[in-house]
Amino acid sequence: MSNLGTKFWQECEKAHDDHQAVLQELVDLEYAMGSLERFSQGYAALQSAQEVFRHGIHLCDTLPAHFAEEETILFTRLSAVSPELARFAREMSRQHDELRQMLRDFRHSLENLRSSPDNCPGFELLREQGVELGRKLAEHMRLEEEYLGGFL
Ligand SMILES: [Fe+2]
Ligand SMILES: [Fe+2]
Repeated sequence: MSNLGTKFWQECEKAHDDHQAVLQELVDLEYAMGSLERFSQGYAALQSAQEVFRHGIHLCDTLPAHFAEEETILFTRLSAVSPELARFAREMSRQHDELRQMLRDFRHSLENLRSSPDNCPGFELLREQGVELGRKLAEHMRLEEEYLGGFL
């Protein structure tokens, strides 16, 4: 495996660190969404809405770069190692496309929340999207950690 190159190992470590940060942000987002549900009005609701927006937009802003880094270095080099890893890399890239679309939809709902914070039907959709995004992302990262575990 030594022919994978220094850049590969650096990217492996960075991907692992990114995953820890994303998992923490998902916990924070879930907490903020729970708070927003509990406080339907007043200052607490406004503060919760701001937290949902802050964590949600941060995920939407940062994840595409994480996906691109994995595809450019990690998946490209892994694909050359074995057919099994090439299949894994293709499946992870396919999941990235799915996640990118989910992030676009989620950002759209977050922008709606910002422009009309007391829009309850809008919040229901946002919450559903947030829960589904968190579930898919966590499962995706779990798979990457499992496969990349041997390289870390
Ligand atoms: Fe990924
Ligand atoms: Fe990842």
